[in-house]
Amino acid sequence: MISIDYKYHALRGAALTYTDDPFRVGAHLSMRYDSDAIVCMSEGKITHFGPARRVLFQLPADTLVERTGKDTLMLAGFIDCHAHYPQTECIGDCGEQLTDWLNGYTFLAEQKFASKAHAREVAKVFLRECLRAGTTTACVCCTVHPQAVDAFFEEANALDMRMIAGKILMDRHAPQALTDTPRRGYDDSKSLILRWHDRGRQLYCVTPKFSLTSTPAQMEMAGLLWAEHPGTYLQSHVAENRAEAGWVKDFYPQRHGCLDVHDYYKQLGPRSIYAHGVWLSEAELRRCHETGAAIAHCPSANAFLGSGVFNLKSALTSERPVRVGLATDIGAGASFSMLRTLKRTYEAAKLNGYDLSAALAFYLATRGGARALYLEDKIGSIAVGHEADVIVLDLKSTPVIEYRMRECEDLEEALFVQMALADERAILATYVAGKLAYRRESRHIETRQDQSYE
Ligand code: GUN
Ligand code: ZN
Repeated sequence: MISIDYKYHALRGAALTYTDDPFRVGAHLSMRYDSDAIVCMSEGKITHFGPARRVLFQLPADTLVERTGKDTLMLAGFIDCHAHYPQTECIGDCGEQLTDWLNGYTFLAEQKFASKAHAREVAKVFLRECLRAGTTTACVCCTVHPQAVDAFFEEANALDMRMIAGKILMDRHAPQALTDTPRRGYDDSKSLILRWHDRGRQLYCVTPKFSLTSTPAQMEMAGLLWAEHPGTYLQSHVAENRAEAGWVKDFYPQRHGCLDVHDYYKQLGPRSIYAHGVWLSEAELRRCHETGAAIAHCPSANAFLGSGVFNLKSALTSERPVRVGLATDIGAGASFSMLRTLKRTYEAAKLNGYDLSAALAFYLATRGGARALYLEDKIGSIAVGHEADVIVLDLKSTPVIEYRMRECEDLEEALFVQMALADERAILATYVAGKLAYRRESRHIETRQDQSYE
């Protein structure tokens, strides 16, 4: 349908984005909604954005204007701040708790990634599922094998998706086939950094799996490697499981808790991302705030493995706010859908006595995730000059949502229904760097009337 003669591609329909942090300035000062907006894209970037009545007349002559349709909503692409692409294979495997699950399932699945062909096949599935779920950026753990990292980046690069990924570092407490040594981990990671970091939209992430699977020597090496390559990321798991804290004490007796191990080895700072953080103390959260380290909140995985309930309110809204993004944690989390993850986020907050509004939840899945990853100047918002990662939501994607939406009177209510009930079926289209990367086959529901929320 899109003619190659058009240099500009504009989508016309309802749009919602965030211009600031609603946890800080309030939703009314940070949300930008227009029931009839234009989002125009060219050469990977957003070139025009605003109310159609104003922007339509500013569009260049060679612009294709396409309507997104009734009962749709454009958003910035979702950002998944932590996932394991090799665990696509063992998603939904029923585990006991963390270490049994790792030993029983993930370590078996990950050994197959010595084969680059296998890694490529799984990377394709993972990326396809991201697109189907409206996720345009993810922070991804690979395996110990450099070829599995190459396969992932090659596939992400071919799709022009902004991805952050890296080779897992493990040199103890894991099957031999999945371990390296501090030296090999350093050399392999370094050559991957030189090959992939900042190539196209790809970004490299130094990835010590967690402190229990690395020796002090490897943890030290990971901190050094990260410092030697400014602009790269560092990702790990911290304070996920109650028992884990006890073992960390046994293996790092000089350190004061899980996070302190990473702090000691110079692994905290901007562009460090820690998955889970369920059992972090007040002092540890303060340390995240001071250093700029982010937490990837993984509510589905935390529930699935019975790890505990992360206190989102405490992390975000006190006088020492921590950067928090949302994450599927595929495969401990059993859904690629960030909409489902929003529901889990809402439920986890509720268990802590906190009513998370839908406006705040959608911020976390978009601009909030970008902020956690220090990418809010590039992705996470619909804004002129930003990378054109845009999704179109179908606000009536299932019969029950269509039925429920009849009762909605404003945008907040409509967003709440999406948060509570929607999943990947609501993703009508996903644009990556301005190009259509996924379009759902058909609408599930014939819509009856236009709904807009002023
Ligand atoms: N902690 C260390 N590795 C992992 C992993 O692969 N998944 C989860 N959920 N937690 C971890
Ligand atoms: Zn994880």
